[in-house]
Amino acid sequence: MKSNHTVDLSMDFCGIKFKNPFLLSSSPVSNSAEMVEAAYEAGWSGVVFKTLNSDRIPIIHPSPRMNSYHYGHKRLVGLQNVEQISDRPLKHNLLDFLYLKKKYPDRVLISSIMGFSNAEWEYLAKVSEDNGADMLELNFSCPHMCVEGSGHHVGKAFDLIEKFTTTVKNAVSIPVLAKMTPNITDMTEPALYAKRGGADGIAAINTVSGISEVGLNDLVPKPNVFGIGAISGTSGPAIKPIGLRFIAEMATCKELNLPLSGIGGIETWVDALEYILLGSGPIQVTTGIIHYGYRIVEDMIEGLSDFMVEKGISSVGELVGKANANLKTTDHFELDRQGITQYDLDQCVGCGQCVIVCNDAAGQALDWDETTRRPHLIEDKCLSCMICSFICPVEGLITFKEMPRDWKRREAKIMDTSLEKDLKLSDYKDINIL
Ligand SMILES: Cc1cc2nc3c(=O)[nH]c(=O)nc-3n(C[C@H](O)[C@H](O)[C@H](O)COP(=O)(O)O)c2cc1C
Repeated sequence: MKSNHTVDLSMDFCGIKFKNPFLLSSSPVSNSAEMVEAAYEAGWSGVVFKTLNSDRIPIIHPSPRMNSYHYGHKRLVGLQNVEQISDRPLKHNLLDFLYLKKKYPDRVLISSIMGFSNAEWEYLAKVSEDNGADMLELNFSCPHMCVEGSGHHVGKAFDLIEKFTTTVKNAVSIPVLAKMTPNITDMTEPALYAKRGGADGIAAINTVSGISEVGLNDLVPKPNVFGIGAISGTSGPAIKPIGLRFIAEMATCKELNLPLSGIGGIETWVDALEYILLGSGPIQVTTGIIHYGYRIVEDMIEGLSDFMVEKGISSVGELVGKANANLKTTDHFELDRQGITQYDLDQCVGCGQCVIVCNDAAGQALDWDETTRRPHLIEDKCLSCMICSFICPVEGLITFKEMPRDWKRREAKIMDTSLEKDLKLSDYKDINIL
C-alpha cells in the first residue's frame, strides 16, 4: 500500500554521496561521455568508466568479442566476452571526464584503471584525479587480457594487489576501490591485501572465467575468433549467485570491514536489493544494460522506492547488510525441525508436472488421481525438497509447512531384503566406521 512516506535513495560510500545506489560498471556501457550522458539522463547516479589504458601498449579487441548464452527460451542468461580494456586514446577518455564532471557535477565519476607496470598504475591514477575523477577503481580482475601477466593474473598474485594499491594510494587523495576477480576460492584474502595497500573499498565481482558454448560444426568455443576460442569472462544473471556469495563473505569478515560495491547479474531492483541486503553499497550493472538498455534504472528506482515505502524504511542505508544476521554456516541448521509441502488444490491446473518430478527426482511422495486429475501427497514420504513447487506453473500453489518435532519421515524402501546375506559391509568392520 502506498503512503506519503518519502524515501531517501542516496548513499554515502567511501565518503562520497551517491544520489541513488545504481551505477554503470566499467564496460562498453560506460565507454564514452556520449553514452554516460544518456545513462545519467535516464537516472543512473554514477559511472565506473571503461578501464583506461595508458596508450603504451595498443589495445585491439578480438573480433567478434562477445557470445550470448541463451538457455532454452530465456535469452541472455549469460554473456561471454573477450573484450579488452579501453582502446580509446587516453586523452579522449580524459576529455570525456572533464565534460561529464562539468555538466553533471552531482554524478559520481569513477575512473577504472589498469597499468602494466607500477609507474603506469601511478600515472593513470594521477591523470584520472587531475581530470575530475571522484574515485578510482583498480581493475585487478579481467580474466581474458591479451597482454600477458595482466588482468586477473594480478588479482590472483595477492602481493601485487597490495603493491599496486599502495602505489596508487600514495599518488592520489581520492578514494580507491580494488575490483576483485571471482576466479579464486576465497575473496576475503586478496581483499585483505588490498586493505593493507590502503584500499578504501572493494568492488566485486568481475566476470567469471567460463566457456558458455561450443560451435558444433566448427568445434570452436564461442566467441569464435577466426577459428580460436578461449576461456573468457561470463557475466549476467548466470553469475549472480557467485557475486552474492562473495559480497556476503566479505561483508561478514570482521577483519576486512571495508565498504563494498556489488556487481554481477543485476537486472532488476530485486537483484540490487539482494546485493544491498548482503552488504553492498552502490551496485554496478553491465549485462542488464546490454540486454535492456539504460532505461532499466527507472524500474530500479521505482521498485526500490516502493519496497521501502511498503516496509516503512526511510533511507536505503538502513538496508545495507540487513540479511547477514540470518546468514550462518550450515552446521547451525536446526535439524530436529522438519517440514513437508502442502498443496492448495483449488488452484491446481492438473498438469501433473509435480508428480513426474517427485517420482523421478525426489521422494516418490505424490500419487496421481486419474479421476480428479490432482496430485495426492503421502505426507511421510515427502522430502520437503520443494522441487515440485519450482516446476509448478501456478505461483503459490505449493508451499512449505513445518511438522511437529516428533514427526518422522519414512525411509526409502529396500527393494530386496533377501540380498542381506550377500552384503559386504561386514568385511570392512576393521575400518572402524561401523
Ligand atoms: C563486454 C564487457 C566488457 C567489460 N569490460 C570491463 C572493463 O573494461 N573493466 C572492468 O573492470 N570490467 C569490465 N567488465 C566487467 C563488468 O564491469 C562486470 O564486472 C561484469 O560484467 C559483471 O557484471 P554484469 O553481470 O552486470 O555484467 C566487462 C564486462 C563485459 C560484459
